[in-house]
Amino acid sequence: MTPSPVLRRFGSSLRTIHHPSRKVLSVTVYRPVISASASASASASPTTTTTTTTTTPQTRWSSHAPMGPASSQQTRKPVTISTLRNMYKKNEPIAMLTAHDFPSAFVADSAGMDMVLVGDSLAMVALGMNDTNAVTLDDMVLHCRSVTRAVRSAFVVGDLPMGSYEVSPQQAVQSSIRLVKEGHVQAVKLEGGVDFASTIKAVTTAGIPVVAHIGLTPQRQNALGGFRAQGKSVAGALKLLDDAYAVQEAGAFMVVLEAIPAEIAAIITKKLRIPTIGIGAGDGCSGQVLVQIDMTGNFEPGRHLPKFVKKYANVWEETKRGIEQYRTEVKNRQYPAKEHTYAIDEEHVAEFQRLVDEQSPKKRQE
Ligand code: KIV
Repeated sequence: MTPSPVLRRFGSSLRTIHHPSRKVLSVTVYRPVISASASASASASPTTTTTTTTTTPQTRWSSHAPMGPASSQQTRKPVTISTLRNMYKKNEPIAMLTAHDFPSAFVADSAGMDMVLVGDSLAMVALGMNDTNAVTLDDMVLHCRSVTRAVRSAFVVGDLPMGSYEVSPQQAVQSSIRLVKEGHVQAVKLEGGVDFASTIKAVTTAGIPVVAHIGLTPQRQNALGGFRAQGKSVAGALKLLDDAYAVQEAGAFMVVLEAIPAEIAAIITKKLRIPTIGIGAGDGCSGQVLVQIDMTGNFEPGRHLPKFVKKYANVWEETKRGIEQYRTEVKNRQYPAKEHTYAIDEEHVAEFQRLVDEQSPKKRQE
């Protein structure tokens, strides 16, 4: 490829190449040839370089500068579907957490999550909606893109929102393709068991890995009579087992079990040959998932939390404390202090002051 005039002039400015999820990039770098002759200095020779770097450290001169990873260190190998299968074979628990934007994904990945889920719970925890029904595929694509820009190692799954897959298997395939092509996720998740087996089959046949989700399926809360635990009767538990077998046979590589008794989840997990990921389903599952905002305590005290949530941190309190202190310091003129300002030579300030004082207000406006 011939370098553009801009590339010719500025040479190898393509130092930071950050692909959302793939870590090893083959990059064609145009190096300017420095010589005495003007025409020679404008030429560029392409070289193909393989690099394992995802980003270069950045100095943030502006509050709007990108937040990209602070370190170029690739600390973990990317988690692939084979990694997850191996963990399952070795009986190693799989840790999954939700993320809905760049910072929440960045911290989840940095903390060593095996999987990051861009769950449609973002409707409630990030978009302020009452339930997950109103979130659209466009919303999901936007949030998936933001998450996958941050994640360097974890395996990222994007949720198919209500209305994006129920109409037909073809609709599900089209929506899944959008999440992969535009959202850059590695797999999709959809709610449903026996009734969605043909849908799961169609999506997996298109080459997109599927995580199924059975038990309490929040998108169907109206049909379920609210956010209620499932599988509490023998008939209910048998229905869950049927659902689990159906999604496995349809090709799902993993299944989320939400809000079901631990004993039932453990029995179902033993019967399957794909990993189960529990949320409110006890410790007999192959792994666990939680909603990040819940487990980090990033909500106003007093909010109702599902029984299964364990609060591991108090992000709300700490954030509020900092913001209150900032407010106080702004009001007291304690912030910004000298160290938060840019330096300038005293003579420049004096000269500027002199010029300003010299000019009449009218002249200054001209
Ligand atoms: O939307 C979501 O976050 C989920 C998890 C709770 C499993 O589906």
